Amino acid sequence: MSPTSTPRSVLVTGAAKRLGREIALALAKDGWQVAVHYRSSPEDAIKTEADCARLAGSSGSFYADLTDESQVRQLVPQVIRQMGRLDAIVNSASTFEHDTAETFGFANMDKHFRANTGAPILLAQALHTHLAARQATAHADEHGPLGVVVNLLDQKLWNQNPDFFSYTLSKAALEAANTMLALALSPLVRVVGVAPGLTLTSHMLTDEKFTALHKLSPLGRSSTPADVAATVKFALDNQSITGTTILVDGGQHLMKFERDFSLL
Ligand SMILES: NC(=O)c1ccc[n+]([C@@H]2O[C@H](COP(=O)([O-])OP(=O)(O)OC[C@H]3O[C@@H](n4cnc5c(N)ncnc54)[C@H](OP(=O)(O)O)[C@@H]3O)[C@@H](O)[C@H]2O)c1
Repeated sequence: MSPTSTPRSVLVTGAAKRLGREIALALAKDGWQVAVHYRSSPEDAIKTEADCARLAGSSGSFYADLTDESQVRQLVPQVIRQMGRLDAIVNSASTFEHDTAETFGFANMDKHFRANTGAPILLAQALHTHLAARQATAHADEHGPLGVVVNLLDQKLWNQNPDFFSYTLSKAALEAANTMLALALSPLVRVVGVAPGLTLTSHMLTDEKFTALHKLSPLGRSSTPADVAATVKFALDNQSITGTTILVDGGQHLMKFERDFSLL
């Protein structure tokens, strides 16, 4: 299939619900075919897939446990088989389980590093391989950066506290990988980080506490899902950005918090 004959397609991991869903819908609205990745939320994934298809004409959903290397390696080929092409990946899926320096252990570290660091790197590698093969048969109008990977990071990397120890380490490693991949995969693939502040609540926060914490920033508001999705869209569209991270957090990274928001 000619790469110019089908709309651009993007794989969004963890797109069944929450921020991943918001990003998937924003991109579908922008005309992207969206491959909705999920693990334990198949019903939500079907809904996101249907909503994206309504907006963009077509969509698909794809299961993978991102801690399983063989499942991660199969994901991009599966998407390309079904969607015809792949132009971008948004790594939004993330394992977020609490540990501290006192409770840290290899099992928890391994789970976080596989899902939050290793999987995004393998997916970027697979996109690069696909685009290199595509470039070998490229049409004259396909030049320069063909693809882009957006990695969802976290303002807490610039404002560290000792909670969620393994999660934070895995995201710090992903931030380093962001720079290394931008160099290694250029000029075919751009790699951009997007780091939200407190955006969505969790089971550890009451609604009242979330509302109060969301206001705790120099701008008096942290990020909204729409802010984060708009930044991902900007990172996908802007052809000059690579190897850097855009913080979307109302300036929360400029403040000092002794504990994670959920434990303040
Ligand atoms: N929410 C915030 O306020 C906030 C703040 C700062 C940074 N971020 C970053 O923004 C991104 C999205 O945040 P979020 O709150 O929407 O994330 P989330 O709800 O914590 O997780 C998103 C999805 O990740 C998937 N996932 C987790 N472990 C997986 C695994 N081993 N294999 C496959 N899928 C896995 C789950 O999909 P299934 O449900 O299908 O299993 C889950 O629904 C994350 O990278 C997060 O670090 C979010």
